[in-house]
Amino acid sequence: MEYIGENMTKNVISILDVKENLKEILRRAGEMKKNYKNGESVRSLKDKSLAMIFEKPSTRTRISFEVGMTQLGGHALYLSPKDLQLGRGETIADTAKVLSRYVDGIMYRAFEHDMMVELAENSSVPVISGLDDKEHPCQILADFLTIREIKGNFDQKLVYVGDGNNVCNSLLLGSPIVGMDMVACTPDDYRPDEDIFERAVKLGEEYGVEISRHDDPKEAVKGADVIYTDVWISMGDEEEADKRKRDFKDYQVNREMVERAADDVIVMHCLPAHRGVEITSEVMDGPHSVVFDQAENRLHAQKGLMMELMG
Ligand code: CP
Ligand code: NVA
Repeated sequence: MEYIGENMTKNVISILDVKENLKEILRRAGEMKKNYKNGESVRSLKDKSLAMIFEKPSTRTRISFEVGMTQLGGHALYLSPKDLQLGRGETIADTAKVLSRYVDGIMYRAFEHDMMVELAENSSVPVISGLDDKEHPCQILADFLTIREIKGNFDQKLVYVGDGNNVCNSLLLGSPIVGMDMVACTPDDYRPDEDIFERAVKLGEEYGVEISRHDDPKEAVKGADVIYTDVWISMGDEEEADKRKRDFKDYQVNREMVERAADDVIVMHCLPAHRGVEITSEVMDGPHSVVFDQAENRLHAQKGLMMELMG
């Protein structure tokens, strides 16, 4: 089942599901952050519940959603398949139908995109992706909030260096919407999904920005305003670890790479990072890095999103 989002209105399983209201969500997220920093409490989701199903581990996604719900006056339930009847063969469709009778929203971190689509199709309450093998839309909302805060606008060139994975796919689809140029620089065998790349190029034409591919990181990062990387071995790719480390050896984000970019380049990583593998500690802890701002902004961006969907 292929699905590249387009305003499902109720669900956010692709960054394109918020194509029309992305700017409003970012505005709301910025407002949420300001309120929070000023100690003002906003309880717009009072008495609402969010079910969170995690098929894979998580630090940021779990904690930011759980804390976000608490701050908005609601409640989040952490559910792992082994604790649910899902682990004993109840279908994802039946799980969606049952959860919809209890809760006001479902957040799902899935191995397979098809499962995400099936959950969304069978749920009568909003479904938010907390990552699957195809996309990671909430990450990208936080990333855009971070870029806007630090750079002031999206008149930037973002160069993604590494694996053409879920994070890269969502960045490709989201960049045109905010009006940002993007280059996906990956080895040939690790390109982003072809259908997603083609869609992103078309969106780029529509929104007047350039979306392109490259395979030489040294060339690609020249003049970059944002360098973005992610792990070379995503959750589920562990069996290919050794091969991947060999294939990606020229794609490490290190001082030499950063020096090729714009002087005020920011370096981004969705985390968790493997220090010394896809990014050096020197860069991650250095003056260009904004990785912990990104992590913090997961909280504020998702509060903005949940208010939009569940408020
Ligand atoms: N970036 C991100 O989604 O982190 P977690 O896997 O810790 O949730
Ligand atoms: N691409 C990574 C992102 C982790 C937040 C993964 O899927 O494991």
